[in-house]
Amino acid sequence: TGTVLLAAAIGYLLGSIPFGLVLTRAAGLGDIRAIGSGNIGATNVLRTGNKKIAAATLALDFLKGAVAVWLVAFLIGPDLAGIAAIGAVLGHCHPVWLGFRGGKGVATALGVFLGLAWPVFVAAALTWLAMAKLVKISSASALTGMAVAALVAFLWGGWPLFWPVALIVAYVVLRHHANIARLIAGTEPRIGQGK
Ligand code: G3P
Repeated sequence: TGTVLLAAAIGYLLGSIPFGLVLTRAAGLGDIRAIGSGNIGATNVLRTGNKKIAAATLALDFLKGAVAVWLVAFLIGPDLAGIAAIGAVLGHCHPVWLGFRGGKGVATALGVFLGLAWPVFVAAALTWLAMAKLVKISSASALTGMAVAALVAFLWGGWPLFWPVALIVAYVVLRHHANIARLIAGTEPRIGQGK
């Protein structure tokens, strides 16, 4: 159990770095939690109008997830990659530094998928991009990408890959409950606009 806790802790600590908040503050854009949806993720950072900072948030939130999985697989062993992946997404969603109020986990989930199994990442990312082009709504694109990730994880790696990916997907979907309510009501804003 010691190594399991260590893997979870490494994942959590890396995942808990709130890049969206840190970068927007450093750029003098104010507190991202007081803007748009209040989320600390790249979608909301884009609502500040600063595309570069939004892209950097996306890239770094993504990378911390991939690095968490790679680091744990390398230092402790590939068996615990799934634990690190779950830790990283939970760290992003509930960073101790922000009173456990963090993001929705999409970019970090894509990062851990790359670390766990690249086809899961490729399938989820392509779905996300295609949906973003088609419907231009970040949450809807992310949710579709997550569903595809769970499916591809099962097809590619069977149960050992499916269970960590499915837990992450389920959690990311839960984190989008307010977005889902807005999608159903038809009030969810398009990428780069509104709330
Ligand atoms: O990745 C988060 C995105 O799906 C929703 O973000 O700010 O529109 O709630 P936001």
